[in-house]
Amino acid sequence: MQKKIIILASGNGSNAEKIIDFFESSSAVKVLSVISNKQGAGVFERAKKFEVPSVLFKKKSFETNEVLSYLEELKPDLIVLAGFLLKIPKEFVLKFPNKIINIHPALLPKYGGKGMYGSNVHKAVKESGDLKTGITIHYVNENYDEGAIIFQAEVGLDASDTPETIATKVHALEHQHFPQVIHQILRK
Ligand code: GRF
Repeated sequence: MQKKIIILASGNGSNAEKIIDFFESSSAVKVLSVISNKQGAGVFERAKKFEVPSVLFKKKSFETNEVLSYLEELKPDLIVLAGFLLKIPKEFVLKFPNKIINIHPALLPKYGGKGMYGSNVHKAVKESGDLKTGITIHYVNENYDEGAIIFQAEVGLDASDTPETIATKVHALEHQHFPQVIHQILRK
């Protein structure tokens, strides 16, 4: 049976695009649709390029039953958060246990939690003087960045790195690993 993915993304969508591209000619896995809460988000153009349907839902629709009903109807095997900035309501986690995953641009449990997204994370890493950072792919539970860790990958840093170069290094790691990790999860 073909496995089905739904991607949730709030922004640029470069990870979403990598995932869509990775599975484009797969008979085993299909990206059913992309959901975003952000009008005009870059992810819409990226989905369109691959003819993957995309849907805009207002923030409120995540709190009411609207998005949940949409998901329940499509019955995805995996819901992938790829730069999705709203908190996932508890009901989603209860309806889709171990079927929602997120990618975080640091080595959790470091640099996670509320407010730790995008450049905030890379600035905090820079300020700490850490000599490495990385990515974490984890299951989603009702607390930000606290679900069980599925995969981590590291990249070295040095004093010349800036939050911007850290972001570039982290994005490269994300693009390299995220589609493959999804593939592994769906194989099980
Ligand atoms: C990624 O760094 C991801 O870890 C974080 O949000 C960013 C999304 O980037 N959760 P993009 O929109 O996929 O380019």
